[in-house]
Amino acid sequence: MEDRQPMAPGGTGSTLRRSAEHRPALSDLLRDGPTAGPTRRGFWRSPLRGPWLTSVLGAVLLVGITVMFVTGLLSYAAYNPDLGANDKTPDRGWLGFYLFSWPTHPYWLYRLTQGVHVTLGIVLIPVLLAKLWSVVPQLFSWPPVRSAGHALERLSVLLLVGGVLFEFATGVLNIQLDYVFPGSFYPLHFYGAWVFIGAFVVHIAFRVPLTVRMLRGGGLREELRSPARAGRKDPADPTDLVTPHPAAPTMSRRGALGMVGAGSLVLLAVTAGQSIGGVLRSTALLAPRGQDPGPGPNGFQINKTATSVGIRARDVGPGWRLVVRGRGREKVLTRAQVLTMPQHTAALPIACVEGWSTEDQEWSGVRLADLAALVGFTDAAPGVFVQSAQRSGSFRSTTLRDNQVGDPRSLLALRVNGADLSPDHGYPARIIVPANPGVHNTKWVTRLTFGEQA
Ligand code: HEM
Repeated sequence: MEDRQPMAPGGTGSTLRRSAEHRPALSDLLRDGPTAGPTRRGFWRSPLRGPWLTSVLGAVLLVGITVMFVTGLLSYAAYNPDLGANDKTPDRGWLGFYLFSWPTHPYWLYRLTQGVHVTLGIVLIPVLLAKLWSVVPQLFSWPPVRSAGHALERLSVLLLVGGVLFEFATGVLNIQLDYVFPGSFYPLHFYGAWVFIGAFVVHIAFRVPLTVRMLRGGGLREELRSPARAGRKDPADPTDLVTPHPAAPTMSRRGALGMVGAGSLVLLAVTAGQSIGGVLRSTALLAPRGQDPGPGPNGFQINKTATSVGIRARDVGPGWRLVVRGRGREKVLTRAQVLTMPQHTAALPIACVEGWSTEDQEWSGVRLADLAALVGFTDAAPGVFVQSAQRSGSFRSTTLRDNQVGDPRSLLALRVNGADLSPDHGYPARIIVPANPGVHNTKWVTRLTFGEQA
């Protein structure tokens, strides 16, 4: 960090000189920065700021963001971006090097990983804001660029801060407002995550030594109790975070951390119920799908209604047919004929990419493997391309892999909890597969194509 002249709270030494003389020369301006505003070091006066507070918040983010990144990647593996049929996520490319066949065991896997991803994303918001607040003087440090190396460092900070704000903003907007982006959320959030994580890795590589030193440095009680220590700059502290002209403290660091922690706890309390369920479901006040789903066997959450995606009465009325294709064969079945096939039940949840999920529901219907056998796949079940009567909206079709089709709990469900599916739950027939993201459990199914075209 550069050394600066000592200054009075009102301005730098050269600032005062300048005001006494004529207008500042351009060279003075470039060297010392504007005479007023956030680029002046004396502008930021909170005595709470310092490497210790930044390190504590950084350590929490290190753990939290790592879990979010891993669960986020798992979500993309579950979506399986190389299943190009319905999905606008990027194809495998070199960023998809980690993709693998998403398993069907344990059946609650996606409920867990995506619930953690979304809940943590909400809960970390106060920590992230506090971290940015703790380093804000550095964002305005002057001169903005000192050398080529410094320019690179500034660029990485820009990608770090821009990346994290973009990821959190797109994530929150997606769960609160559905699809509000110019372009698909999925590639934006996916590529944004890689840009951000690259900058994050560079950031922690340089900051971990200082963070460890600060956290191991002892004096925890002293740090927590009082902001006053911030005024005493540790000679070995390479940061410019400690203000040279602290304002009178309005709270201790313990108070500040307590406020951030309380903010996170409140967000946890009003969000987590949408993923945990049970009695906690009613506490999910921030959950956009927290609306009362109504009573009865079909009384559990949905993402989109039949009307909202253009399902017409005649698409799902008595004229509805299920077309099953594969190996050059085609079978066309009425709902009554599907009901005459062996019926199986499976207790599975709906787990949405938006983080909410339902408790296990008792689905009954025909095994996907039995439908594959109808068109000649009697030995091993292949993948299947599923199409819906949906006329608008995303996820009108999906592709399921062979391990998903082959799982005996994977059904073309006709009934749930002992009743026919309701129109909004996909009547006359829908897909239900263990550990499958909700949007891939296609509703209002009209066509199943097994094998090579899947
Ligand atoms: C979302 C994650 C994070 C964001 C957006 C973020 C942002 C920032 C920014 C903008 C700065 C000022 C840097 C500069 O202008 O030079 C900074 C400094 C710092 N960060 Fe982070 N940070 C994050 C995560 C972390 C983590 C995980 C750690 C701990 C390993 C950490 C530890 C620090 C430390 C110790 C400093 C002060 C270092 C210095 O001034 O030289 N940060 N952070």
